[in-house]
Amino acid sequence: MRKSVLFVCLGNICRSPLAEAAFRAEAERLGLDVEIDSAGTGDWHIGHPPDRRAAAVAARNGVDISHLRARQVGPDDFRRFDHIVALDEKNLADIERLRPADAKAHLSLLLDHVAGREGQAVADPYYGDEAHFDTAWAEVAEGARALAARIAAEAQG
Ligand code: 4NP
Repeated sequence: MRKSVLFVCLGNICRSPLAEAAFRAEAERLGLDVEIDSAGTGDWHIGHPPDRRAAAVAARNGVDISHLRARQVGPDDFRRFDHIVALDEKNLADIERLRPADAKAHLSLLLDHVAGREGQAVADPYYGDEAHFDTAWAEVAEGARALAARIAAEAQG
């Protein structure tokens, strides 16, 4: 069964596009059949490409995210995706509030999937510098590896 994963941050221009890209690379490496997308809880950046600093850190790590465009998470996402994965605890609280009664999605924090980092946030790098984007990449890559391993294990069942 094809699984689906939606990554959610605030603006959908920094962390969740990076998580989407890191997870896509890892899913391809593992041969997972999975639908992958990202969205923001906020509406300020709808239709915008990723922040240029996010695109730059992705490029430094061999991934092109420049084609992505921001969108806002909506009620249908909870019926469409198996997993909705928030980047920080505020994003998680916001999607828990938006969750409709007939949601099928399992909600989690990305770093909940990393042993020893449960409950931790991928810090928002938007007001930071290049080093904060490098840290965000390292954290989303670690979370993506752990989440992909979990979904691969579930697929084997
Ligand atoms: P993101 O970062 O949630 O990782 O995409 C942010 C992007 C934009 C804003 C805040 C965080 N903003 O306030 O516009």
